[in-house]
Amino acid sequence: MNLYALVRPGLFALPAETAHATGTALLRAAQGTPIESLARERLHIDDERLSVEAFGQSFPNPVGVAAGFDKNAEIPTMLAALGFGHVEVGGVTAERQPGNPKPRMFRLREDRAIVNRMGFNNHGAEAVGERLSTARLPDVPVGLNVGKSKSTPLDDATADYRYTFERCGDAVDYTVVNVSSPNTPGLRKLQHRDALEGILGTLLDAGARPLLVKLSPDLAERAIDEALAVVDDLDLDGVIATNTTTSRPESLQSPHRAERGGLSGKPIETVSTAFVSRVARRTDVPVVGVGGISDAEGAYAKIRAGASLVQLYTALVYEGPTVAREINRSLLRLLDRDGFDHVSEAVGADL
Ligand SMILES: Cc1cc2nc3c(=O)[nH]c(=O)nc-3n(C[C@H](O)[C@H](O)[C@H](O)COP(=O)(O)O)c2cc1C
Repeated sequence: MNLYALVRPGLFALPAETAHATGTALLRAAQGTPIESLARERLHIDDERLSVEAFGQSFPNPVGVAAGFDKNAEIPTMLAALGFGHVEVGGVTAERQPGNPKPRMFRLREDRAIVNRMGFNNHGAEAVGERLSTARLPDVPVGLNVGKSKSTPLDDATADYRYTFERCGDAVDYTVVNVSSPNTPGLRKLQHRDALEGILGTLLDAGARPLLVKLSPDLAERAIDEALAVVDDLDLDGVIATNTTTSRPESLQSPHRAERGGLSGKPIETVSTAFVSRVARRTDVPVVGVGGISDAEGAYAKIRAGASLVQLYTALVYEGPTVAREINRSLLRLLDRDGFDHVSEAVGADL
């Protein structure tokens, strides 16, 4: 019996951001208590066939929590206890900032989607760095997603990213330059070659390894090529594909489809999988596939499209805290069905 099916109507009666804050508060309260151990026992699928080696890190399974869910690194251990194989905290910016005015997060229930225009609300690099260096961290890799402070002009973005890395980078296992959120004015321009080279090069000089870049599904072909040329030139460690989209598929039913912001969840799944395969075809570095994954079939499609790892956010809202276990369990079945002895054999099988 699925407990979340009982809890979800209560959460869905609340505004989306309040529901998120409530869920996070519950997870924070459970963290470090016997509930955390119980969750780990019940939800962690311990199977060597799911283990992943990527950019020098060992992951117990390919399914991670995408950035934005734990913006301030308050619940990484509890999220890992839900069975996730890695947790990406952030986006963190150099300055503490409130984000955009509320409401700024909307459930498109009919579409199993979310539109958000949070605008990098977070406690700032100083506070998150302090938390990361003193907290008990999970025994799965933790990534740091770095964004740009709203008040910092685009021309000074490099220093902003560097400041955050210097405050938080030592405590984490990989760093992600996020130049693809649609909710900080001008941010996505930083995906262009010169800007991207400047930011990534500076972070590498500062010692950021492994270093990944997260891309927008709205990038045009040429812009993808440009970004991937930088990935190759700088010998980056990986690419995360994709962030949310500002486009609105015709199929959307919910009245909230007209809200400004980035769309995530089911409606972006196919586009984001196609993006993963485009990236995987053009580069040799590991690809982290994210966008609309809610079940093992979706995770498997991204893996077959070339993703070494996958992540999700929106499915945690719709499917609940057992989603990683369900995906990992059924992934094993899909591997069996297709005669793969290990998940690594399925990576890029459709390319
Ligand atoms: C409310 C919300 C906040 C997000 N914040 C961030 C963020 O700070 N940094 C980032 O790189 N992505 C952020 N994302 C994007 C997710 O990490 C992910 O790329 C996107 O939601 C697609 O995955 P999904 O369909 O599984 O949700 C956010 C998404 C949502 C819904």
